[in-house]
Amino acid sequence: MDKIEQYKQLTSQIRSLIEGETDAVAVMSNVAAAIHQTMGFWWTGFYRVAGEELVLGPFQGPVACMHIPFGRGVCGTAWKRAETVVVPDVEQFPGHIACSSESRSEIVVPVFGHDNTVVAVLDIDSRELNTFDETDRQYLEEICKIIIG
Ligand code: SME
Repeated sequence: MDKIEQYKQLTSQIRSLIEGETDAVAVMSNVAAAIHQTMGFWWTGFYRVAGEELVLGPFQGPVACMHIPFGRGVCGTAWKRAETVVVPDVEQFPGHIACSSESRSEIVVPVFGHDNTVVAVLDIDSRELNTFDETDRQYLEEICKIIIG
């Protein structure tokens, strides 16, 4: 199955999985698990906006940093810019926060609340370089819209 087909199935799975669920932690937990399991990524999870920093939320994969300041690392940058950041090679990203030395490429997608501010970010790491492209960006942005409803 190609990546687009995988993402189409994943997106429809997520729609039905979270239908009617209003608890944000329950939604983020199952969404992280569904993405991680279907796509086989190295680390998949959410950081929630809490004041001036991001705090670790539901995730799948190895243990990770728990607090990331605004504008720091890939996650803090995606929050500050309020846009998706794709990093083909983490060593080339100034200020990248290495939670795991195995991480080689990364994508971070903001989750916008109903008031259009960033309420969380979806962070996905890969152990290979250049894992994430326009297809990942498009479908992961769609998933981040679905979870807000
Ligand atoms: N690398 C991220 C930190 C989070 S971990 O990858 C799970 C960053 O630079 O923001």
